[in-house]
Amino acid sequence: MKKILFKGGTVVSARGPKRADVLVSGEKIVAVGKHLAADAQIADVSGKLIFPGFIDAHTHFDLEVSGTVTADDFDSGTKSALSGGVTTVVDFATQNKGETLSDALNNWHMKAFANSSCDYAFHMAISDWRDDIREELPAMFEQGVTSFKVYMIYDAMELCDREIYEIMTELKKYGGIVGCHCENSGIIGKLREEAVACGNTSAAFHPATRPDYTEAEAVTRFLSIAKAADAPCIVVHLSTEKGYEAICRARADGVRVYVETCPQYLLLDDSVYSGSFDNAAKYICSPPLRKGSDNRALWDALRKDGVNTVSTDHCSFTLEQKRAGENDFTKIPNGMPGVGTRAVLMYTYGVKKHRISLRQMCALLSENPARLYGMYPKKGVIKAGSDADLVIFDPKRSGVLSAANSFGKSGYDPYEGVRTAGAIERVYLRGSLVYRNGEIILEHTGRYVMRGKYIG
Ligand code: URP
Ligand code: ZN
Ligand code: ZN
Repeated sequence: MKKILFKGGTVVSARGPKRADVLVSGEKIVAVGKHLAADAQIADVSGKLIFPGFIDAHTHFDLEVSGTVTADDFDSGTKSALSGGVTTVVDFATQNKGETLSDALNNWHMKAFANSSCDYAFHMAISDWRDDIREELPAMFEQGVTSFKVYMIYDAMELCDREIYEIMTELKKYGGIVGCHCENSGIIGKLREEAVACGNTSAAFHPATRPDYTEAEAVTRFLSIAKAADAPCIVVHLSTEKGYEAICRARADGVRVYVETCPQYLLLDDSVYSGSFDNAAKYICSPPLRKGSDNRALWDALRKDGVNTVSTDHCSFTLEQKRAGENDFTKIPNGMPGVGTRAVLMYTYGVKKHRISLRQMCALLSENPARLYGMYPKKGVIKAGSDADLVIFDPKRSGVLSAANSFGKSGYDPYEGVRTAGAIERVYLRGSLVYRNGEIILEHTGRYVMRGKYIG
């Protein structure tokens, strides 16, 4: 069995950084400690940080939506992931109306199998809640799908409060957890209709028709449903201060709610929507980018460990695809790329600016998602027995983000030209070097991860 001894680095965990060597044998970490010696290939990582492979628990690869299909499939999406130090993605297998959950899961296995360069797992997004779907739930757990997403908005996906309550009650029996896209569909639908009727069709009307209180109202309602069901839950892609305040109130009231946000809700704001269509369209996502005050409130929540994970909601489209909404913002496919840039952005704007610590960065990008999505301690931590998914991060290097250096297919980077601190030098997936300094070394070796129940 091939052995590698990583010597001289600083191992980062959700308890903090510490100097330690890491011994890997085959696909597993076998020892972590000071001054390890072994008959092994030596990898000198002096001066480098060693993170457990990052997990992006919110991607949409090869998703058919808005009459088109996302620019990134599992081939380009997972290569992009590796370039960002991501060794596991949890993508959303998405049930179309009329389908069974097994249809959706098989569909996603076919998309990912033999095309993935990092490991992968699936949440199940439920769009059609029926008696036969209820009966299928045990089979989902047997196949490693233990987390589910429900939407309070989007014609193709929206469920009513009663259905969400039933799903939560049912999933609780099996130890499952539900994440929710929280936006008030009624208000947003009406505001969009009114905007278009008045000729307000430019991209600037996307955020204007999704005001912050529509997220806060939906968060409050979702958490009331969770309270009624006495079930744990996740608010995904949280974007507003008001939404976070609703979460704090629910937590004080005993609701077990976990929170995910994304780099775009920490680093970008709605000023991007007032420029040209081509520029604004790049940033059209739902929920939309918010105000600087929301960015600051979310950073503050991260600092206080009030947010549990930072994922990306990578859902990429080319500008050509976005132009379907050139004359009507409601037709712009929603979503942005991000899986390849999250870690350097969080290091640059989080750790280097002292908004979060290295400990927190590791918790947010590795350990917490591993626990929340039932992959810990196989993933998310550097310890004996865990998969040897390692990110060798050079804190001394710097870079400039650009679509030109990306493996993604959207053709643009929302952070084009942004200077970053630190660089992902090497990525190991289950003991094999898969990425080094801008190059994919080994492709399509990603495997499906059977997940267990969440650990709170
Ligand atoms: O605009 C977004 N976020 N598109 C992806 C689908 C979703 O709601 O997560
Ligand atoms: Zn969503
Ligand atoms: Zn999403």
